Amino acid sequence: MTDFLDFVDLCERQLRLSAVHEGERVAVLSRGTERLEYADAFMAAANRLGAAAHHLRLPSGLGGGGVDSLVVGTTPLSGNPAAVEALKQSDLLIDLVFLLFSAEQLEIQASGTRILSVVEPVDVLRRMFPTDGIKERIDHGVELMRKASTLTVTSPHGTHVRYQLGAYPAVPEYGFSAVPGQWDHWPSGFLFTGGADDGVDGTVVIAPGDIVFPFNTYVRTPITLTIEHGRVVDIRGELDALLLREYMASFNDPDAYGISHIGWGMHENARRTSLAVDFQGIGMEARATYGNVLFSTGPNGELGGSNHTACHVDVPLHGCTLLLDDEPVVVAGDIVVPELRARTR
Ligand SMILES: [Fe+2]
Repeated sequence: MTDFLDFVDLCERQLRLSAVHEGERVAVLSRGTERLEYADAFMAAANRLGAAAHHLRLPSGLGGGGVDSLVVGTTPLSGNPAAVEALKQSDLLIDLVFLLFSAEQLEIQASGTRILSVVEPVDVLRRMFPTDGIKERIDHGVELMRKASTLTVTSPHGTHVRYQLGAYPAVPEYGFSAVPGQWDHWPSGFLFTGGADDGVDGTVVIAPGDIVFPFNTYVRTPITLTIEHGRVVDIRGELDALLLREYMASFNDPDAYGISHIGWGMHENARRTSLAVDFQGIGMEARATYGNVLFSTGPNGELGGSNHTACHVDVPLHGCTLLLDDEPVVVAGDIVVPELRARTR
């Protein structure tokens, strides 16, 4: 019971950051028996703040969505317009299903509802709670990203890739959702943008110790990706390259080879080693790790692009240098712009 009340306290702090106040409508979406205690904790926390909460629970066994899914796009809300309409009536939707990249999520956002996805284990939620000042630091990074016309990533392992910016917005993920129509994810703590559809060129070397999602494993042999005009045109290496090549080919979809979001992690409490110990959830901690460059391939619908492939690969790269218009932002895995640096690490 103490644990539950502690979790309610944590959810209350989260709802305060997410601007929940008296008279608001908070909806919680779950599926089957998954994370029912999260639904109860969020509703209890919403009640404490004077908000009206309810819980929309979908049947178990519906395909798509969820943290175990290797493909994205279809969710348990697909083909359920009544549920979508109900959720659009809320001010804040706590998404315990994981709707990311779905048409239903975009429709709910377009109604002005803000969405916070929460699917990670409680200890990760606690460790990765948004830290003081992280929003301001991320916002500063977003400003730098918006002003830049190129983003370049290099590494001692041979990465040298350049993104032409300007076609897509710079997007913050704070780990809370306080603005109407905004989607965010708890935990989070990074920022990203995308290169022009034909404006990413160079080489990305996924080095030993880097992580490939959704494999949820550390790479042990280097994977060399050749990128031309915004497409992966060659995947070279040993076992890890073979697996990635086969995985991407299995979608039988040319759009699987498009380049998706690019950015860097800002959360000073995130641990890159989190995958190695009792890994559950979807690995937001490893994605948000301070100073990691997050490279990805596949869909760019969340940026407003037209690539809606179901093949999405996220790769946090460690030890890289990232330049905006040739100005260093991350050098050898450490953030060097004073306004972006965490006060405590
Ligand atoms: Fe991603």
